[in-house]
Amino acid sequence: MDNKNYYITTPIYYPSGNPHMGHAYSSIIADVFARFKRLDGYNVFFLTGTDEHGLKIQKSAEKNNKKPKDFCDNISKIFKNLTKSLNLSNDDFIRTTEERHHKAVQFLWEKLESKGYIYLSKYKGWYSVSDEAYYNEDEIAEKDGKKISTVSGSLVDWVEEESFFFKLSSLQDRLLEFYNKNPKFILPITRKNEVVSFVKRGLKDLSVSRKSFSWGIKVPNDKKHIIYVWLDALTNYISALNYPNLKDKLFKSFWPATLHIIGKDILRFHAIYWPAFLLAADIKPPNRVYGHGWILSDKEKMSKSKGNILDPLEVIKIYGLDQLRYYLVKEVSLGNDGNISDKNIENCINSDLANNYGNFCQRTFSFIEKNCKNTVPEDIDFNADDLKILNSFNNNIDKIRSLMDNQQLNEYVKFIIDKSSNANKYFNDEAPWNKKEDKKRLNTIIYVSLEIIRKISILLLPVIPFSANKALASLSLNTKSLKLSSITDHHINKPGTKIINQGILFQKINNKE
Ligand code: MSP
Repeated sequence: MDNKNYYITTPIYYPSGNPHMGHAYSSIIADVFARFKRLDGYNVFFLTGTDEHGLKIQKSAEKNNKKPKDFCDNISKIFKNLTKSLNLSNDDFIRTTEERHHKAVQFLWEKLESKGYIYLSKYKGWYSVSDEAYYNEDEIAEKDGKKISTVSGSLVDWVEEESFFFKLSSLQDRLLEFYNKNPKFILPITRKNEVVSFVKRGLKDLSVSRKSFSWGIKVPNDKKHIIYVWLDALTNYISALNYPNLKDKLFKSFWPATLHIIGKDILRFHAIYWPAFLLAADIKPPNRVYGHGWILSDKEKMSKSKGNILDPLEVIKIYGLDQLRYYLVKEVSLGNDGNISDKNIENCINSDLANNYGNFCQRTFSFIEKNCKNTVPEDIDFNADDLKILNSFNNNIDKIRSLMDNQQLNEYVKFIIDKSSNANKYFNDEAPWNKKEDKKRLNTIIYVSLEIIRKISILLLPVIPFSANKALASLSLNTKSLKLSSITDHHINKPGTKIINQGILFQKINNKE
């Protein structure tokens, strides 16, 4: 197998309303991994898109007096535009209303049916339209006289109707064996434990079709039935690779997926149903499902009723895109819930970006302009201190890769910003402004500083692509050809090259408090 292929996905979003910060978060996280892997020489396929069928969408369309397809066309476009606003590097954007997807879902259904995993019966139980999920009796509680799911807090309805079922119960042992053999299939580990104990409590067969509405993909041999929207939606991860054409280059190169990035609320679908469908159809399950935490707005869950839904475009307008990306990656520990507030984001921008990384770039470029004719100096001679700081990158390249392969994103950023603090300290301690009599030493300090800017900026490219590119452009380096492995070299900046300072990277924010 070619292990230089890397397939990463976001959840596909419901176009039932405008995107909010939670959606932006899933997408930005996935983008950081995609960019990092490309930088490290991998052949990356990064997928995102919209999940357009089902009762939830049909109802939203009706509320807006629109036909479901027109309604979806409109909001899906907003999600697609968001990929540009967030500077996502996705290779494809899939919509479940596309023909390619439709065909793949019906094919998968037929496959499951032909293998004896589908049977007709009657569903009697609880269903949440907003989660598009079935819940067991022991997952239901009463609140304000209404029935809700204790898992998600969403309202549930009692449903009784003819339905096709998937023999999920028959896959219980295979799933447990699969989790056992692939201990990092579900991360973080706490989530894995939740899933394993849920499966061990016993799986019931899953209702995989509905008859009471029409907006969805029809069951191939019984057009009165609509395929369950989660079976439909999960298939996007393979329909985008041209499944069912197993010989297709995309499918062969990129399946099984390396990583599905999802929110913790949709873990059950990805960690139980999805591998079960695939195992039943003789398709390998993905390598990993990572369930991230929730983004809270001023410590509260975002909701329409509380009126605290954060619009990523508004936040970008105030603080800037890279500032938002950086904040989400650094200050939210992936896997845990994280908070966004003006105060936190402003403190983070000032302390890490404006006063630390941005400041280091700016003071180095200003010094070069005044003292080195704005060119990369020559005649250099590294001493032990220079080598220590330069080597702190190459000595850690395995650690850096492993942090990213284990999705320890905020540790990755902490590593980089720590290096930036060290760089500022180095500049202060070496005080090149006092070395004007010793040209060689002055040149060397500046050369080392430029190499550190290069290394740090390369590491920051996945997180803050615009700003890191700007810093690298100041060094007259072509970022397209830069690879992660070049941080192990200390001689990439060529003496005599012009420094073309592209300007201040981050404005400091005047914190009102
Ligand atoms: N359509 C399904 C996913 C199908 S994937 C085959 C869905 N869509 S969603 O639009 O409701 O949510 C998409 C993602 O956004 C989920 O991963 C969800 O966890 C995430 N978020 C929604 N609100 C969130 C926060 N407040 N914080 C972080 N992410 C949350 O579910």
